[in-house]
Amino acid sequence: MKIGILTSGGDCPGLNAVIRGAVLKGIAVHGQEFVGYRDGWRGVVEGDIIDIPRTMVRGISKQGGTILGTSRTNPFENGGGPEVIKGHMDRHGVDALIAIGGEGTLAAAKRLTDAGIKIVGVPKTIDNDLDATDYTFGFDTAVEIATEAIDRLRTTGESHHRCMVAEVMGRHVGWIALHSGMASGAHAILIPEQRVSIDQIVEWVKLAHDRGRAPLVVVAEGFTTDTMDEAHSERGLDTFGRPRLGGIGERLAPEIEARTGIETRATVLGHIQRGGVPTAFDRVLATRLGMAAIDSVVEGRWGTMVSLNGTDIVHVGFEAALGRLKTVPQDRYDEARVLFG
Ligand code: F6P
Repeated sequence: MKIGILTSGGDCPGLNAVIRGAVLKGIAVHGQEFVGYRDGWRGVVEGDIIDIPRTMVRGISKQGGTILGTSRTNPFENGGGPEVIKGHMDRHGVDALIAIGGEGTLAAAKRLTDAGIKIVGVPKTIDNDLDATDYTFGFDTAVEIATEAIDRLRTTGESHHRCMVAEVMGRHVGWIALHSGMASGAHAILIPEQRVSIDQIVEWVKLAHDRGRAPLVVVAEGFTTDTMDEAHSERGLDTFGRPRLGGIGERLAPEIEARTGIETRATVLGHIQRGGVPTAFDRVLATRLGMAAIDSVVEGRWGTMVSLNGTDIVHVGFEAALGRLKTVPQDRYDEARVLFG
């Protein structure tokens, strides 16, 4: 059996560990062959493949990024669609696909599976916003990177008696902000799920300042204040027509400074959170998911993705991950909020 692997959407530390886990198990246990599609769905639509021999996955689980490349290509556009894709698969002798990606990738994979293409999925996003899996690989790494960066912002903030605003990723959900903010002892954590007024943010900043602390605010890129209509975006749209987020920290900082008189600086962590080596947790999770994806292929579980349930890897239908995001529940926010100010 020949299996094609693709990595699609924003990259994520741990992608290479998934590829390695799948290829090593597939070759060692089932004698399968592997090809990789270059740049996600673009390679699938254009039939752009490379062989993945065992030697190619040697030592890659600790490498950031993806050896296959990725893109935000929609497989139903750019001359794609099930017939074209099936044609390329038949020509290359590819029997099934393992699609590693986030909600957009899995939604496309579901449509293609419904059209008769054999696909299993592996969920991926640093935002940790996919439902039907307890954690996605890459999230733990992003939180580690963000926490280390915020710890550094704190020491310079304390030296200068400034308020520091750290902006982290999180388009629809605030998991990275919540975890890195709690780990670094932030005085306010602002997430997309909870609209908060500027007055409230200013109050938290002042409370911390009045105790002699350098106030630290962690804000997710998708956060909106109670008077904003939509998340802050000033860089146009991505290929899926979604606004490119980023800049809410820079927007909040002058307002905080104007209202409190405390010199305030903002830092956007941006794509640093997605780069570099994955943590041990993410390497293990990603490797297990890759190996479990091979079980899905062998068992013919088309239209399903592998997922983490507690400490077990289970198989769930694509639809379980689609249409609903895993947001930060109210009790997790309330728990953190006790420590604000
Ligand atoms: O989906 C993960 C994510 O990192 C989001 O948090 C962020 O909004 C987006 O990707 C950034 O995407 P790009 O790499 O296209 O700028």
